[in-house]
Amino acid sequence: MLTCHTLVKTFAARSGKIVGLDGVSFELGRGEFLVIHGPSGSGKSTLLLTLGGMLRPSSGSLTLLGRDPYALSPSDRTRFRAESIGFVFQLFHLVPYLDVRQNILAGLPKKDPAEAERADALISELGLESRATEFPGTLSAGERQRVALARALVKRPALILADEPTGNLDPENAARVFQRLAAYRQAGGTVIVVTHGLDAAPHASRVLRLESGRIVPQPPAAHLL
Ligand SMILES: Nc1ncnc2c1ncn2[C@@H]1O[C@H](COP(=O)(O)OP(=O)(O)OP(=O)(O)O)[C@@H](O)[C@H]1O
Ligand SMILES: [Mg+2]
Repeated sequence: MLTCHTLVKTFAARSGKIVGLDGVSFELGRGEFLVIHGPSGSGKSTLLLTLGGMLRPSSGSLTLLGRDPYALSPSDRTRFRAESIGFVFQLFHLVPYLDVRQNILAGLPKKDPAEAERADALISELGLESRATEFPGTLSAGERQRVALARALVKRPALILADEPTGNLDPENAARVFQRLAAYRQAGGTVIVVTHGLDAAPHASRVLRLESGRIVPQPPAAHLL
């Protein structure tokens, strides 16, 4: 499903060169639920954006579903992403002038009734019924986060990449989100979740820890904490 090898990403910042990723390598099989955790600034979002075809690495290689997204033309890469990847951004990226339901349906290739039904099912599963016709600007951060998750799930992509999908949620709603992602995995999907902590670990098939842009070893029992 996914193989990355010595991914390095550096940024030119005012204070000089910043190393976001410092040689990240791992493989992920279809149907896995990978949790990547680590402190703020360790490179989690950088890694997720790189894996999702949205941030070209400075060096290293990536193969996703048999293709290197960065070898594709920009338009082919956009299509590949739209078809294969559901991305839940840390800062949501909802469309401000579309309501909740329209946001969830935006970006779906076919406008068929089955998609609309799936959108409505997700709205109720994620507790958003009373918000379905509101605009994102009127929602709480946790509500926006759930809309972003629904938007990623509704197209049933092969891979979901979720950046802190429960960062603004109370424990009950956070549990709902992880259960929804676990159900998506049960249905054949593959998940990568990035978090500060280990809340998602009970659902994980694998846990990786990132520190200063590198994957560091951790005790084997850590994911049971
Ligand atoms: N566009 C950018 N330009 C310059 N530096 C960047 C850029 N994006 C990220 N960085 C730097 O790269 C490092 C990793 O950032 P990243 O956003 O990946 O961390 P993170 O682990 O997701 O943190 P958080 O848990 O706070 O979301 C940080 O030091 C950050 O300042
Ligand atoms: Mg981040």
